[in-house]
Formats: sequence, C-alpha cells, structure tokens
Amino acid sequence: MAANSLTITDNRTGKSYDVPIANGAIRAMDLRKIRTGPEDFGLLSYDPAFTNTASTISRITEIDGDRGILRYRGYPIEELADHSNYLEVAYLLLHGELPTIGQMDEWEWQITHHTWVHENVKKFIDGFHHDAHPMGMLVSTVAALSTFYPEARDGVDPVIRKRQIVRLIAKMPTLAAFAFRHSLGMPYAYPDNALSYTGNFLNMLFKTTEVKYEPNATIEKALQVLFILHADHEQNCSTNAVRSVGSSQVDPYSALAGGVAALYGPLHGGANEQVLRMLAAIGRKERIPEFIKQVKEGKAKLMGFGHRVYKNYDPRAKIIKRMADEVFEVTQPSPLLPLALELERIALQDEYFVSRKLYPNVDFYSGLIYQAIGFPMEMFPVLFAIPRTSGWLAQWQEMRDDPEQKIARPRQLYLGRGLRGYVEIGKRDEGVETGA
Ligand code: CMC
Repeated sequence: MAANSLTITDNRTGKSYDVPIANGAIRAMDLRKIRTGPEDFGLLSYDPAFTNTASTISRITEIDGDRGILRYRGYPIEELADHSNYLEVAYLLLHGELPTIGQMDEWEWQITHHTWVHENVKKFIDGFHHDAHPMGMLVSTVAALSTFYPEARDGVDPVIRKRQIVRLIAKMPTLAAFAFRHSLGMPYAYPDNALSYTGNFLNMLFKTTEVKYEPNATIEKALQVLFILHADHEQNCSTNAVRSVGSSQVDPYSALAGGVAALYGPLHGGANEQVLRMLAAIGRKERIPEFIKQVKEGKAKLMGFGHRVYKNYDPRAKIIKRMADEVFEVTQPSPLLPLALELERIALQDEYFVSRKLYPNVDFYSGLIYQAIGFPMEMFPVLFAIPRTSGWLAQWQEMRDDPEQKIARPRQLYLGRGLRGYVEIGKRDEGVETGA
C-alpha cells in the first residue's frame, strides 16, 4: 500500500481498493474500478455545481479562500494593483512571466493597433433595440467576431492563436464602448492609439466635441486597478464556460462569447449591477434591518456578499474599498456609499452572515465607483467582462495545450423512467403531468 494513497472499502462487496493521491486529490476515473460485478458501470462521484471537483491542473491563478489570498502567476494581487497596469497583467497571465521592456513595448503596440473593428460590426450594434442590455450586445458581437476571422478555427498554430488573443483583448473595449454609445443614441467614437488601454476606453465612451479627449488621470488609474482585480479568478463560472465550450475546439471568439454569457448572470458578474439596484431599493439606512430580515427569511439576497471560495474576505473588495475614496475625490461621492457601509457593518455583525462566512465580495463596492464615474448600471457587468478577457484567454490557451484535457463531458445519474412503449396521442391519460 503506497503512503500517498487512499484505501477504500466497498461495503457492498467487502473489497478494498488503493487509490493514489496526487496534489491532494484522487482521480475520479480511479473510482471506476470499484464495481459490484461485471455489469456494474463503476462508481461515479456526484458533485452538482462542482463544489469539490478540480476540473484541471492550472498554473495561472492561485486563490486561498480561507486566508483571503489571490495571486496571478505567484504575484500577490495587492502588489500588482499597486505597481502594475492592466496590459502588463494580461501579458503575465498569458505568458507566465512579467514582460521585459522590449516585450512590453511590442505587446502594447500590438494591442493598441488592433483596437479597431470592422465597420460591419457597427451595423450589428445599430440593429439592437435602444434599450438592449449592453451585455446582450457584447455576447452577440464577441461571437460575431469569429465570422470575420475564420482562421481562428485553428487554435494550435502559435501565430494564428496569438493574433486572436491580441484581437480579443484589443477589441473588447471597442465593442463595449460602441454598445454604450448605441444605448445613448450617440455616434461611435473611434479608438485613439495615443492613449493607454483604459484612457482610450474612456475616450470611446465619453468623447464628444473635443478634438482630443484627455482622460482624467485618477479615473484612468482607477480603471487600471479595477481591470487588474478582475483579470482572472481561476475556475469560476464563466471561465469554466470558456474552457467547456473551448474544449470542443471551437474558435476562441465563440468560446469567449460563452464566457460573457455566463458572466452576465446575477450570481456572477451581473452581481455588481444588482448591488446598486438593491441599495437603491433599500433607499434609507432605517430600512436596512427590514431588508436583513428578508434576507434571513430567504426572501431576498444580499448581493455582493458571499463567495464559493473566499470564506474569510475577498482581497479584491479590500482594495476597491480603499480606492473608492480616491475616485470620489474627483467625482461626486456616491450617495449610496453611506448606505453600503452601514449595510456591510450590520451584516458583518449578524450571526446569519458570520456563521455562513459571508463577506463583501469584489462586486459590493465596484458598482459605486462605476456609478460615480458615470456608467449606467447596465454597463457594470461589461466592465467586468473587458478585463476578464485576458484571464479567459489564458485559461483557454492552457486548456488547449493540456494533453490531459479532452472535450468536457460530465456524467449524470439517471433517475428518470425506465423503458416504456410509445402511446398514441389519443390514448394518453388525461391529467398526467409532463416533465419530471
Ligand atoms: N445573501 C444571503 N445568503 C447568502 C448569500 C447572500 N449573498 N450568499 C450565500 N448565502 C447563504 C446561502 O443561502 C446558504 O445558506 P444555507 O446554508 O442556509 O442554505 C449559504 O449562505 C451558503 O451559500 P451557497 O449558496 O451554498 O454558496 P455558493 O458557493 O453556492 O454561492 C455565491 C456563492 C457567490 C453565488 C453566493 O454567495 C451569492 O449568490 N452571492 C450573491 C451574488 C454575488 O454577490 N455574486 C458575486 C460573486 S463574486 C464575483 C464573481 O465571481 O462574479
């Protein structure tokens, strides 16, 4: 019996099995040999929502949820937020190392010179209703990009692959800004190659009649930090979607459209929008106890609280909370900030939240900053999707290069009806429920 192994006794048969343990995990496929007889398919592990299943070996992002640690390629998120910029972090995620001066120059040049989109993309966006949600527009336009770059179907050739990675990181802010301008009924503002990644994004969002748009330095920097914080978060819902869709070897635009769709949901990247809606609905500090009561009765959810992995605090939330003051110095302070602070204070003292280890996550304060900058609530998830693009691509690339990965295809436990014969439509019983 190897020291690094697990001995399992199957009480149905009395047989024992040794299963190797590597990196703190057993391989689910090793359970398959545990069978009651030749007809038995073999033991499966049942894990809805993958709460205790590692789907991959990854070397990109490390999270220690109990200690509130987040590192990209070994670098603490706090150091990256203090010293780096988004494009440098994107490079790090994709390449595994921080760039040299020459590598960074080349990377920035490449991204800057791929920010333009085909003019036909504007036609798609024009076709959306004036009140279309920008995330809906983003899902569709990211997927539509695949039709412009059919070469992207080759996910193996390093030159072709790199080109798509550059295009996606470069064009995402353009698509997002065009969706924003469409919802306002404003003409699209084209990219300005002289500006930084976030400076240019602000230019495409807010430029009006000025010849040259000058982004506010504090806001430009704040967006850099927010983008760094959102760049990757290991195997979250949208990353899992990108990996899963990408595992069919579809092009990366289609795989990332799957990621944007997953991010749109209110339990994931859509939570920042929901936090603001929740705060607006609460309205006054005096109504917080009533809201908390509703949450505890299961009638409402405290949006921006809780996390599958962080059971102590979300290090991103700490950085954002600190940063909020800097932003509010150059914008109007958010009228909802005092309410958010009070809600956090009350929740963190309440047994319901304490016992369940529910703390503010990245989305609790980010929306207040976005709102102060001038974004409508619908744009908040889009501001998550732009920087997450580099993380999705790093994870997609890792998946494509991993010889252990195959098409993602979970098993199920079938508990439905057994074999039965087809019944003609006129002979079926009235009142029989369909479905489950
Ligand atoms: N408000 C009230 N109760 C909550 C909340 C919340 N925000 N989050 C979790 N709980 C309760 C949940 O009802 C459950 O209680 P019980 O044990 O009595 O059934 C317990 O805490 C454990 O929660 P869970 O639903 O099993 O946890 P999960 O890991 O499946 O879900 C989550 C994680 C983030 C989806 C969830 O905490 C949540 O819905 N939060 C609000 C939405 C949100 O802020 N999402 C952003 C996540 S961070 C950014 C990102 O990754 O996109």
